[in-house]
Amino acid sequence: MTVHMAKDRAAKDPVDLALRQRGRASVDFITLLRSAGRDVVAAATEAMETIVPDPSVLPEDLEARFREVEAALVNEPSYRTQKLTHEYHARMHGVVAREAFEQVRDLVEGKLRCLDDGPATLTLDPDFHAPDYWSGVDIHRTLGGWDGHEFQGFIHSEIIHKKMVAYMFGDLYGQRRDVAALAPNSSYERILDMGCSTGYFTVALAQLYPEARITGVDLSPRTLEQAHRLANANGWAWRLYQCAAEKTPFASGSFDLVTSYIMLHEMPEAAIVDLMGEAFRLLEPGGDLLFADVTRFSDMDRLQEWKADTAARFGGEPHWRASASLDLAALAASAGFTDAKTQNLGPNRYPHVLHARKA
Ligand SMILES: C[S@@+](CC[C@H](N)C(=O)[O-])C[C@H]1O[C@@H](n2cnc3c(N)ncnc32)[C@H](O)[C@@H]1O
Repeated sequence: MTVHMAKDRAAKDPVDLALRQRGRASVDFITLLRSAGRDVVAAATEAMETIVPDPSVLPEDLEARFREVEAALVNEPSYRTQKLTHEYHARMHGVVAREAFEQVRDLVEGKLRCLDDGPATLTLDPDFHAPDYWSGVDIHRTLGGWDGHEFQGFIHSEIIHKKMVAYMFGDLYGQRRDVAALAPNSSYERILDMGCSTGYFTVALAQLYPEARITGVDLSPRTLEQAHRLANANGWAWRLYQCAAEKTPFASGSFDLVTSYIMLHEMPEAAIVDLMGEAFRLLEPGGDLLFADVTRFSDMDRLQEWKADTAARFGGEPHWRASASLDLAALAASAGFTDAKTQNLGPNRYPHVLHARKA
């Protein structure tokens, strides 16, 4: 068994971000509103379990199930309150984050621009046409999606993730380090991180495999710009490209490890099938695939599945339902991989991890 020695630390922040009082208060308010709602969520869950004591009697069809559970809960105060706070959070978190950024823009903009220089490279394609399934989606219902502001990558990474999401879901880097450490070899030379976004999982790879040459791809130029700053701030020579993970410009056999962390649920089934084929092409023989994504619907009962599906539906995740229904090991095997296995790593069986090998 390989024992990985991950450095127990996050990456150096690109800039020290101290929000102004008003921005900080708004960020704290919306974060606390959502997380203070935990008691409400617990009460709503209890109400659901009382109203639906046996989830197996719920309709198999998710639309019919949605209608039936909504109708059963429509007068339940805790459920209505939960819906209201989630809806408010979904509509407002991007607005609040952007306002907080604008209040400190004069302090950070120069520092961010300085981080355009360094050992990392960034290749953006001004003529790039993103796939239809991705264009025009305000992902997570964040104002403008992944790219809605000149510094949206910074806003996503440093305000939405570090000040909002981390408060609700804990150590974001730690979750990623645990997944990165599942790769079967103790060292890799050429790693491709698909859907690298602002570089959270890529950091885990860089820390675990310091000798590897790391390449990241993403559709979103603004998040890639933030990954670029992060790499430069830490002295990492990442090569970052704007392209679809299922259609990359790299030669066959260019990598010995291909990874992705919570990208697949943003893709429809056909694109995931293409992605598996692309990952297979890009790996050299003996190379490893390591993909982590959201909990499978097949690992939930019908009520849990309804909850996850409803959260995704209202949380700006149009592909989650289809994606979370896929058997990733079977798709990997169809693409030619051997030894395709899945495991559920953390609490609530999240994340769901696929590893496979190209023989
Ligand atoms: C939830 S984020 C995860 C980012 C990162 N891996 C992490 O650990 O935080 C998903 C990312 O996948 C990207 N993405 C979605 N579909 C993609 C595709 N077909 N090709 C490349 N990137 C994609 C999105 O732009 C987004 O940045």
